[in-house]
Amino acid sequence: MKINSRILAGTSASVVLLAGLGSPAHADTAALGTAPTNAATTALSSDWRKTRSAIGVDRKLEAEIDRILSGMSLRQKVGQMTQAEIKLITPEEVRTYYIGSVLNGGGSWPGKDKHASVAAWVALADAYYSASMSTDMAVKVPIIWGTDAVHGHSNVYRATIFPHNIGLGAARDPALIREIAAATAKAVRATGIDWVFAPAVPAVQNARWGRTYESYSNDPALVKAYSSAYVKGLQQRFGADSAIASVKHFLGDGGTHNGTDQGLTIASQRELVRTHAQGYYGAIGAGAQTVMVSYNSWKDADTGIDHGKMHGNRMLLTDVLKNRIGFDGFLISDWNAIEQVPGCTKASCPQSINAGIDMIMVPDDWKAFIDNTTKQVEAGEIPMSRIDDAVRRILRVKLRAGMFDGVAPSGHVGAGQLTGVQHRELARRAVRESLVLLKNERAALPIRRGTRVLVVGKSANSVPNQSGGWSLTWQGDETTNADYPDANTILAGIEAAAGKDNVVFAEKPERIDPASFDVAIAVIGETPYAETKGDLAPPKTLTHTQRYPEDLAALQALSVAGKPVVTIFVSGRPVYANDLLNLSHAFVAAWLPGTEGKGVADVLFADPTGRAEYDFRGRLSFPWPGTPCGASFSAAAMAAEPPLFPGGYGLSYARQKATATLPVSTAQACDSK
Ligand code: BGC
Ligand code: BGC
Repeated sequence: MKINSRILAGTSASVVLLAGLGSPAHADTAALGTAPTNAATTALSSDWRKTRSAIGVDRKLEAEIDRILSGMSLRQKVGQMTQAEIKLITPEEVRTYYIGSVLNGGGSWPGKDKHASVAAWVALADAYYSASMSTDMAVKVPIIWGTDAVHGHSNVYRATIFPHNIGLGAARDPALIREIAAATAKAVRATGIDWVFAPAVPAVQNARWGRTYESYSNDPALVKAYSSAYVKGLQQRFGADSAIASVKHFLGDGGTHNGTDQGLTIASQRELVRTHAQGYYGAIGAGAQTVMVSYNSWKDADTGIDHGKMHGNRMLLTDVLKNRIGFDGFLISDWNAIEQVPGCTKASCPQSINAGIDMIMVPDDWKAFIDNTTKQVEAGEIPMSRIDDAVRRILRVKLRAGMFDGVAPSGHVGAGQLTGVQHRELARRAVRESLVLLKNERAALPIRRGTRVLVVGKSANSVPNQSGGWSLTWQGDETTNADYPDANTILAGIEAAAGKDNVVFAEKPERIDPASFDVAIAVIGETPYAETKGDLAPPKTLTHTQRYPEDLAALQALSVAGKPVVTIFVSGRPVYANDLLNLSHAFVAAWLPGTEGKGVADVLFADPTGRAEYDFRGRLSFPWPGTPCGASFSAAAMAAEPPLFPGGYGLSYARQKATATLPVSTAQACDSK
């Protein structure tokens, strides 16, 4: 704590800290023009508690930071604060501009090659690293590369893709999360990468949001337990196999009105703490070293004050996160997000830096950003003390993570090995654990091996569909099974479990007579999407059939035969599906399982005596809507429109329950709220 105040001394933030929390100490904020002036009247709630990081302050390391910093020029400091996209910066430019970081965005690969090999990733990492180590700086500062390894190292060809967070939430197994994070760290290190833009820790409050699947749960306690486990697994104690975590997106990303991506979250400070900040308490307590700032805006429900975009919110970024909670790592902005702050552009935003952002993700316009920021410091628009604080934090993280060890990315154990990015058994186990059984009538499940199985549906034989967004590409589209040579589809798992000769697959069941089979399995659901594009804005309903009528048609075609129908439902969110539930004897919510589709069949099949090797153990990580417009998980909304199944619901072979025929609403539109 002592050292922290010393580090902050000289920044106006420390004035707030020393002036006493909750006092009207924001006058300087208003003077800098970094936040709406009315923020000056907002006192910090006493609900914001300090947290103790597992990584303590190290005086020797702090002295080392002082030494490095004292030899740096302004341009070198601004370079450290700049993160560019690998498509748009060469190693030579990294050297010339003293760049502190690069990222590869969703669907960005070395040489723009979707099938880039693990060796190609390492070669590019080496090139950036040696560029950063051959500048004319007094002390050379190694570059840090960040990537969205949000469900395994999911931008990398042949890497294992784990279930998305929504499925992991259903598994309710923090130890599993820790193992997945450790495997992910190994995977990124195998490609020469140091830093992972995960865990995402929104406690999503509305299923309309297209990023619902990036959330472990709407339950903040589960999010907190998982974020802590993830950071422990990923960062470990910064050994050879660890990577740096970035907890995202701070703050309130999962609470926007109507679930609109990058929208407005209206909440009291108390609600921010209790609902939206729990993942940060978990992660920062476990030692998370970086936090990514969110695109959303925040309006205080108590005062009615609109604090605007988080990227300009000095109160939450500096006064709360850094000073009150005590986070001493660095803040990274989101992709071009600074341009959304009033008065800013993609290449200029003193407001964000003054608000407390330390490293700026400026994927394309990084050159102009460096020029502008340098001039803004020279003109006094950004205090030099703020720049020094930002660079200190970046150096602190790089030092703590062992990046100054003098070893190039290719020199680390496991670098360049394909095995490092493949963790198939672990992912298959995660798939098994994430499945939630919502209905099981007529003992449709388990299916005895040796029976004749008909498989239908657009997602039975589709790795893209079962993987969702952030899989090789940003939206998870523009890929086929051929892009995933090591993956197993859900169909492949069924064939392996049932015996290939016992299985017939027809994506559309039209020309097949289901009566000639013992059981039919329909693998249906949503097709891939990611941020923004995946939103279901009102007046859209949550009714699955409205968006995917072919899925209802498939179940209708099967049901005429009177044989048991098992639905495997692949989706990134809970949806309204009463019609599909009625047509299914068994219904399994499989979420977005990723590349190890065999984990599904592991739980579906039994030996000829009827004994299944694995039981269902997943429990809904979110409430499941009971009405077409029942998208919100707020207590008030759920009281008005109760969910069909509450969070935590899930059957198993051991625990059965009859499901009545459900009413089917044909509502075509929802009111805009
Ligand atoms: C997303 C982040 C992601 C970043 C880099 C943004 O659009 O919101 O979650 O880490 O892009 O790809
Ligand atoms: C990038 C993503 C990024 C998104 C933001 C995409 O082009 O690939 O990483 O999150 O843009 O808009």
